[in-house]
Amino acid sequence: TAEPSFPGPALAAGFGQGSPAIGAAGLVPAAPGAGGTEGSGAAGGSARIAAKKAQLHSSPRPKKLEKLGVYSSCKAEGPCKCNGWKSQNPPPTPPQTDQQTNTVNLQEPCRSCSHTLGDHVTHLEHVSEEEMNRLLGIVLDVEYLYTCVHKEEDADTKQVYFSLFKLLRKSILQMGKPMLEAQETPPFEKPSIEQGVNNFVQYKFSHLPSKERQTIMELAKMFLNQINYWQLETPSQRRQRVPNDDAAGYKANYTRWLCYCNAPQFCDSLPRYETTQIFGRTLLRSVFTVMRKQLLEQARQEKDKLPPEKRTLILTHFPKFLSMLEEEVYSHSSPIWSQDFLVGAAGGQIPIHTGKTHPHTHTPVLGEKRKASEPLHHEENKRPRILGDIPMDLINEVMATITDPVAIPETSLLSAHSARDEAARLEERRGVIEFHVIGNSLSQKPNKRILMWLVGLQNVFSHQLPRMPKEYITRLVFDPKHKTLSLIKDGRVIGGICFRMFPSQGFTEIVFCAVTSNEQVKGYGTHLMNHLKEYHIKHEILNFLTYADEYAIGYFKKQGFSKDIKVPKAKYVGYIKDYEGATLMGCELNPSIPYTEFSVIIKKQKEIIKKLIERKQAQIRKVYPGLSCFKDGVRQIPIESIPGIRTRAGNQKELKDPDQLYSTLKNILQHVKSHQNAWPFMEPVKKTEAPGYYQVIRFPMDLKTMSERLKSRYYTTRKLFMADMQRIVTNCREYNPPESEYYKCANILEKFFYTKIKEAGLIEK
Ligand code: ACO
Repeated sequence: TAEPSFPGPALAAGFGQGSPAIGAAGLVPAAPGAGGTEGSGAAGGSARIAAKKAQLHSSPRPKKLEKLGVYSSCKAEGPCKCNGWKSQNPPPTPPQTDQQTNTVNLQEPCRSCSHTLGDHVTHLEHVSEEEMNRLLGIVLDVEYLYTCVHKEEDADTKQVYFSLFKLLRKSILQMGKPMLEAQETPPFEKPSIEQGVNNFVQYKFSHLPSKERQTIMELAKMFLNQINYWQLETPSQRRQRVPNDDAAGYKANYTRWLCYCNAPQFCDSLPRYETTQIFGRTLLRSVFTVMRKQLLEQARQEKDKLPPEKRTLILTHFPKFLSMLEEEVYSHSSPIWSQDFLVGAAGGQIPIHTGKTHPHTHTPVLGEKRKASEPLHHEENKRPRILGDIPMDLINEVMATITDPVAIPETSLLSAHSARDEAARLEERRGVIEFHVIGNSLSQKPNKRILMWLVGLQNVFSHQLPRMPKEYITRLVFDPKHKTLSLIKDGRVIGGICFRMFPSQGFTEIVFCAVTSNEQVKGYGTHLMNHLKEYHIKHEILNFLTYADEYAIGYFKKQGFSKDIKVPKAKYVGYIKDYEGATLMGCELNPSIPYTEFSVIIKKQKEIIKKLIERKQAQIRKVYPGLSCFKDGVRQIPIESIPGIRTRAGNQKELKDPDQLYSTLKNILQHVKSHQNAWPFMEPVKKTEAPGYYQVIRFPMDLKTMSERLKSRYYTTRKLFMADMQRIVTNCREYNPPESEYYKCANILEKFFYTKIKEAGLIEK
């Protein structure tokens, strides 16, 4: 009974495309404890107040004055302390607005101060009808809160209602706007729940084709709507249910929620905010588990009423969505709660926003209250721009032109360059394969399925790691301190990674890793490792260590492992098992990387860059007419004379003075010629020494020819000079094998040449 009630909208109704088609009646909960007592359920209180307000707004002015007189101080001469006119014939409590008080007499004396009703309302004489109606709206809210205070049984809630009651009374007396005198104003935590869920969708689903992404966004929207109408449990209920929780923290949030979200739903003179926009992860954490349970239960109960097209969405996708979100809500390192989570970079889709699509049944009295919460969302999206960042608008524009990489058919050219884990990821999405972290336990009753899988793992490891004694594998796989991430296909184990976590030492040891022979090189090994990485990020261990088999070093390298160990030796010596003939390798994890989606994200980023380059090229492209000089018998022309090249090359680094250029180039050439690795390039290659050289190398070059060209003032630009030097190097690389002495000399000399060019200021350092 301690669990909170759920007055939210029907699940199926939350799935309208665009704005949710939820019936208005289900949307307006009453104050806890008060709504039900009035006899017609959650919607009753608010709807009734709205009707009463409408009735009062159309009443004659004297009647309005009488109503307001009850809440106005006496203005009669002398120090009258009466702060509300009281009729001689007191109306029943709660005060009624109906026909009984039809005859209103401004001369009627007040029961407590004897001054007339007129004396209490002189300040309202010149007040506009609109302002009167506003004040009357507050009066009705005060009266409703009065019944709430009396009927509420929970002490904390009662106290909050009473404070709100006093606040609204004061604002009628002072004819002001009800302002909550809290020390802090909303938002109470950043990022907001809405932003966090938005980030979650981007983080986990941005790789999906747009139709599926749309489905996820609908789920997210529905979930946010449910939170906005979720009835929080009272602090005392919570203390009973979760005794070790941060009681003070919860109470503070509960009070804020009552004042800013819940009470304003039935007292519309109070500024109203959406729960999802002003609260963050802390509140979500305190409601998520119970809420998830109840939502799933509700889905189960509504199962038969669901329209067929929504059944899969609600019965299959929604539970999975909630489980995935739960992990991010309770994880200590989930990036979705980071203030600088870059919205739009991964997915570029429109943020999910519940605020505007809400069919509020009342018109806000305080004009600025919606505005106060709306920009919040956009502000939160902003992260400091770094100089050189590509404008977000441009990225979004480009994103719209990119074909979803996942949607690209297998036959396309791209599939040849697909990421290694792409097929495995798709199989997982289609439910062909599953990943589970399992282990043996001595304290819990053995689960038959898990034991079967452990036996399966033991078999896979024994077959794939023949040098490991079988008994040893069995011992570790069944040891409760070890866990195994297992890969299941058709109910059978086809691979796994057995590991032992050492949280106190900040690392995990990977003990065995294998995929069954006929399933290797299909990407399963990569996807397994990516899942293991995500599992560890969740558990806040950011280092892997393993003794890799000689034949597996290549695989581990591709998974980001290296022989350069980042964990200090003192942390692992004595903990990790040492294997002879194996190489210790380590991998440091980056908690901001969603590893199982990483290759898709990179692919998308590559596509974006490609498109951006294409755009830039389209802007700067200039087509020159082709060269015709060769037709006229010219054999060779300087590169610089090709139209278009000179313009690009002619930047400010060029030395304008020909003499200065000459002496600079002479100096560089001198240095190059004196370099100890310049000997193979001093003179033109002799045909006798290098047979067939001139068949392979069509444009030979050497340092002697360069000296002659320099002397004859051929090098009118540094580019010409550099092109010849580069020609020497490329010719050498083309003719000689990489392990040859000549090849090595060319590499060294090239490096030296560029150092000299930079020193001379001919190119950027
Ligand atoms: N040497 C070099 N590269 C390898 C090796 C290897 N032995 N095995 C896989 N790779 C490469 C693949 O070619 C692929 O490269 P690519 O992406 O450039 O194409 C990449 O590593 C990953 O391939 P996947 O298909 O994702 O991996 P797979 O499903 O084949 O699983 C594994 C890899 C687990 C090593 C598997 O080959 C296996 O079970 N081998 C036998 C058992 C073994 O050696 N296990 C490791 C022992 S060490 C230890 O357990 C601590």
